Amino acid sequence: MDKIRIIGGRPLEGTIDISGAKNAALILMAAGLLTDERLVLENVPDLADVETMGQLLAQHGIAVDRPAPRTLSLGGAITNVEAPYDIVRKMRASILVLGPLLTRAHEARVSLPGGCAIGTRPVDLHLKGLEAMGAEIRLDGGYIDATAPHGLHGANITFPFVSVGATENLMLAASLAEGETVLVNAAREPEISDLATCLIAMGADITGIGTDRLAILGVKSLHGARHTIIPDRIETGTYACAAAITGGALLLRGARPADLGAVLATLAQAGVDITETPDGLRVSRRNGLHGTDAMTEPFPGFATDMQAQFMTLMAVAEGASMITESIFENRFMHVPELNRMGARVNVHGASAIVRGVPTLSGAPVMATDLRASFSLVLAGLAARGETIVNRVYHLDRGYEAVERKLAACGADIERLAA
Ligand code: UD1
Repeated sequence: MDKIRIIGGRPLEGTIDISGAKNAALILMAAGLLTDERLVLENVPDLADVETMGQLLAQHGIAVDRPAPRTLSLGGAITNVEAPYDIVRKMRASILVLGPLLTRAHEARVSLPGGCAIGTRPVDLHLKGLEAMGAEIRLDGGYIDATAPHGLHGANITFPFVSVGATENLMLAASLAEGETVLVNAAREPEISDLATCLIAMGADITGIGTDRLAILGVKSLHGARHTIIPDRIETGTYACAAAITGGALLLRGARPADLGAVLATLAQAGVDITETPDGLRVSRRNGLHGTDAMTEPFPGFATDMQAQFMTLMAVAEGASMITESIFENRFMHVPELNRMGARVNVHGASAIVRGVPTLSGAPVMATDLRASFSLVLAGLAARGETIVNRVYHLDRGYEAVERKLAACGADIERLAA
């Protein structure tokens, strides 16, 4: 397995191009199941998860072509409604094919995703919503067996709490269902609005975009379209932390500040200088960082996918911070690794108290999930000496060309091939 080696202590200076959003790309690819015509996606990031979703679609019968760099062209009839365990276990987002398969082919057999490093992550909201739309669902041998012999119908669905994936799955299902579906307490993440924009370009009827109440009037069929994926807000926030923790200055080209919600305000409060420019965001830090609290929340709150990276930043801030994780129950696995690098973090239930230290020291570290991996890269960039980050495949799932982007801005970083 590849590793990443970092010698810390160099301020990052220069420009980083922000890639297309991973989480938008995955759901938009699933939308390719809704039509036989071509769905062309542009600004697609080059990531292992995108590759995995491509494999999943291909085995459902969809032709997945790359007519140009960063462009995916999807199209074709569904020939197989089973999403096998071997692919789903690699990527939980595979569950997003359930709604499209069911609404289009009237049946689906999708492996249950099971637990993952950051928590149990059930899919009950996805299943209850589809049942309310007329699906019959059985769990059998680790698989979700779903049928809707006469197709799905519209329903009024109020989510008990906000779920990005359930909102997306039901939007896809509702777009071809009979009648109107209303999703109340829907997620408002920018990736959901991006999906809605693409579905509308494909002929869907959706109102309430950007709000927590989405109304989707089903149509008979959807057609092909061309859609450009939004920039990745989590990659943006992550590189903002990289500029801040190294005391450098980065232009994050192509970033969309409005999509970062509370993250930028929290960084600014911690002493990071952030300026919007015509081409993106300029992020720098001239003065010290100060301890700042953060609590993860659905959008527009502070993103859970930024929690680990922000914790690393607070590990070297002056004073204490309290970081509370309210979305996932087990998302502090980076803490023991950060502490091995000299951080002082204590976890109490859903909160972590971070007592800032003047410097971290390099160490071999290991991460168990995607965002946690980058929190260790950030620690390595700031630390004295050498850090080796193991299990780089987590990073490759969701960050494009990490070492190339960082090295181009002055980081001493290289990939050690296994
Ligand atoms: C998506 C993102 C992920 C991000 C998360 C929260 C993708 C591919 N992934 O994940 O990067 O961290 O949103 O912003 O877009 N839950 C249930 N039952 C359900 C569904 C969810 O209990 O049926 C719980 C989850 O366990 C979690 C919370 O709801 O505690 C929110 O999860 P959700 O918003 O659904 O996250 P994902 O869509 O899996």
